[in-house]
This record gives sequence, C-alpha cells and structure tokens, in this order.
Amino acid sequence: MYLPLDGRGPLHGQLVRSLKDAVMTGRLPSGLRFPPTRLLAQQLGVSRNTVLAAYEQLRAEGFMQARVGSGSYVAMPGAPVQPRSEPPQRVAPQSAYARRLRRYHDHAHMPGRRVPGALHSFQYGVPFTNPLLTSAWARALSHAAVYTQPHYPTAQGLPALRVAVCEYLSLRRGVHARPEDIVIVTGTQQAVSLTARVVLDEGDEVVIEEPQYFAVREALQIHGARLLPVPVDGEGLCTDLLPERPPRLICVTPSHQFPTGALMSLARRRALLDYACRHDCWIFEDDYDGEFRYDAQPHAALCGLDDSRRVIYTGTFSKVLFPSLRLGYIVAPPGLRDDLISAKWVDDFGSPAIEQAALAHFLADGGFERHLRRTAKTLKQRRDALLGSLRRLAGDAVDIDDSHAGMHLVVWLRDRNVAQGEAFIAFAQSRGLGLYSILPYYFEPPARAGLLLGFGAMSVAEIEEAARVFAVCLGEMDWGSVG
Ligand SMILES: Cc1ncc(COP(=O)(O)O)c(C=O)c1O
Repeated sequence: MYLPLDGRGPLHGQLVRSLKDAVMTGRLPSGLRFPPTRLLAQQLGVSRNTVLAAYEQLRAEGFMQARVGSGSYVAMPGAPVQPRSEPPQRVAPQSAYARRLRRYHDHAHMPGRRVPGALHSFQYGVPFTNPLLTSAWARALSHAAVYTQPHYPTAQGLPALRVAVCEYLSLRRGVHARPEDIVIVTGTQQAVSLTARVVLDEGDEVVIEEPQYFAVREALQIHGARLLPVPVDGEGLCTDLLPERPPRLICVTPSHQFPTGALMSLARRRALLDYACRHDCWIFEDDYDGEFRYDAQPHAALCGLDDSRRVIYTGTFSKVLFPSLRLGYIVAPPGLRDDLISAKWVDDFGSPAIEQAALAHFLADGGFERHLRRTAKTLKQRRDALLGSLRRLAGDAVDIDDSHAGMHLVVWLRDRNVAQGEAFIAFAQSRGLGLYSILPYYFEPPARAGLLLGFGAMSVAEIEEAARVFAVCLGEMDWGSVG
C-alpha cells in the first residue's frame, strides 16, 4: 500500500493523516480490510507500536471498524465523501481494437447476469457445486500449495495435468491426444483468443453457428474477424449451407450445439471435416459440456474423427467443475502447436501452477470421476424436474427443445413474437422470477419468443417452485398489451 508520510510531527500522527486521506479520496474504499499491524509496520519501516497507535486513533474517529476474529475494516464516518476529483472521462478509442471492443462488448449489459431481486432465477452458466466437491478441492489445493515449485510454470501447462487431460479425453471424449499436443489455457475464452491470433488476420472470414455462444462470437469480432453465420437445425450446423468461398475458421459446438442443444449427426461431421480439408480451413471445436448426456453414453468429440488434423479442440473445466477455476485446454493440431504455445506465453506466461497441480491430482486420484458421476446423476434429476414441471404446468403454451444433455433448455413461447417474449421476461421479473431471452445468441432475431433456461444450480424443489411461478405468469400476462 502506498502511504506517503508528510514528515510533520509524530510518526503515528503522520500515518493517521495518510490513512485518512486514502479513505477520504476513495483509495481505501469502505469495507476493505486494513493490513495487519505487523505487516504495515514492516512495509513502512516503522515500529509496530506506531501502527497500533495510528489504528487506535482511526478507530476512535470512526474510520475503522473491528470485526471480532476477522480484523479491522475501512469505514466512512458520516456522509459518504466524494473523491477529490471526478473520474476521468473516457477518451476516444485509442486503437482499432478498442473501437471494436466498444462496438461489440458492453460490460454493463452482459447476457445471462443474475436478475436483481429474483427469488428464483433460471440463470445459465451458474455451476452445479456441492459440499463434497468443495472439500475435496480444498484438500487438493492445500496439498498442491505445499509441493508446487514457486517458479514460473511452463507456458504449455504442467506435464502432470497434460497427461491427466489426455487420459480423461481418451476415456470420456474419444479423443486420443498426446501430452505434447495439449496446451493448458484459462478456459474456452482464452482458447478462442489464442486461436484467433494464430490463424486469423483482421478481416478474415469465420463461419459461426446461428445461433451461437455470444462470448466466442464477441472474441472473434473484437479480434477483427468477419463472421458468416450458418444456421443449425436438429442435426447441428447445416453443412450444405457452408459458403462457397471458404472461411479461414469454422466454430462449432458439435456435441451439444449452443444454445439449441442439437447433437451434430455423423453425416454432418464427416461433411464438415471434408469441407475443411478440401478448402484448407481450421475448425474450432468447443466441447464445453459434451460430458453431460442423459439419454445414452456421451458421444465422441468431432476431433476424434479428424484424420487430417484440422480441428483445434477445446475443453473447459468451467462446466464439469466450476468456472472460477479458469482452467481449460486445447488439443492443438501439430501444425499449430508451437504457435499456440508461444501465443499463450506472450499472453500470460502460463496458467497458475497450484491450481494446475491440484487439478492434475484430482483427475488422477479418481476424485474427478466420482464428482462427474454424482453431478451427471443430479443434473439429470434437475433436468427431468424442469421438463416434467413445464410440460405439466405449461405444456400447451410452450415448445421445449429437449437436448438430453447439459445444464440448460431452450423453451419457446408458443404463438408469441419476440416483443411479447421480452415483455413476458419483464413481467416474470416483477414477480420475482429470473428468465433469460434467447435473443443475445442470435445475429438475426428468430421469428418467435424463446428463452434459455439454466437449471444447473437449482435444486429440484426450487425448479418445481420456479416452474409453478412461470406457469402463473403465463396465465396472468396481459399478452394483448404487447404488439
Ligand atoms: C458454449 C460455451 N462454451 C464455453 C463455455 C465456457 O467458457 P470458459 O471455459 O471460458 O469458462 C461456456 C460457458 O458458459 C459456453 O456456454
């Protein structure tokens, strides 16, 4: 912490003035924890008694609040004090990249955020977690913290994790990769950024599914790619609609099309690989939750069929574990491997080593397998509860795309247009129910009103209650008032 001392009077008084200034100007915001006295004394090169005396005075003046057992926190006595100066006005975008950032990304309005005030929320992207996973992960982490070297990790990823990922992929996803082909990344999002840097120049064309996952779409747009949306149907990407002029890259979610849930048929998979081979383009396969299929064994990934090594396969631990982990992997085609590793090094020198080591251990010792089996069982119960309740309570008003997989469903409001759908979402929100529109996942809005309902983090009881509220809202909505 930077705390300038003004050299006037006793040291503890100088420290009090400096800390108060930091609080009043917002550099030390309310609620932040003050550093422990011993640490601050060491950092400033003063005695601990000086810091203790300063803290005592801050407490007396109301700038500090002690919480039993957890330290002392910044408090703002009286009315909130304005920072001394206004935050700087945003300048004009300083680069073409910044221009695209502002054009394509709006941080304040990201799709899928929790609806404020909602009692029940069908929010997508919230993970399924359980206390068993939390304690197993805590053990793995603290163990890894002890034996992990403090040096920079290798940019490609810890060898032990790459070996464990290969075993998992071979067993579960039909992908037979070698540890040297794996690049550990911070998730699909980094995988798509690195891929874009390595295979795309600004203005290059990229085929993307319509509808599609908005975050991958934004990453490509912001990179400067020209996107060519190609529709999907019940068999996945419509390969007969691929453009005549070949793109550089084709992005697909073949195991569980996002968001429709379609499983890409074998014929389409072969057609796609054949097209990529004939036209010399790359395929980015986003296998984000192919693991969780409830009707049958999970289907093998597209990458497993790829003899010509054109598929850049990406998996993530965001769904099978939890997204705050920020770990995933690329199975790099041999021709791109070194470029991808270099791009990863330039980006961040490598992903955090303790988390990688803990994950390698978790994968290797069977804890992960146990977690997967438990999770798949629970998610199936939740999906069945949502499907069953919606069909029972609202079956004549909705059409449901049942994908037999994953942690979300797409639900269409029968005979309702997009404007009515958006009005219904607002109405449900006023009744404490969080619903999510399908619109952000389309380039061109669909003809009817659709919802993307995530159920991963809701218990069966909560799902049933939320479905009941959903049905009540459907019945009470004044549809005639919306065009
Ligand atoms: C289609 C799709 N791909 C990938 C991801 C995961 O991205 P990441 O690995 O960056 O967390 C998600 C998460 O919601 C997703 O919906």
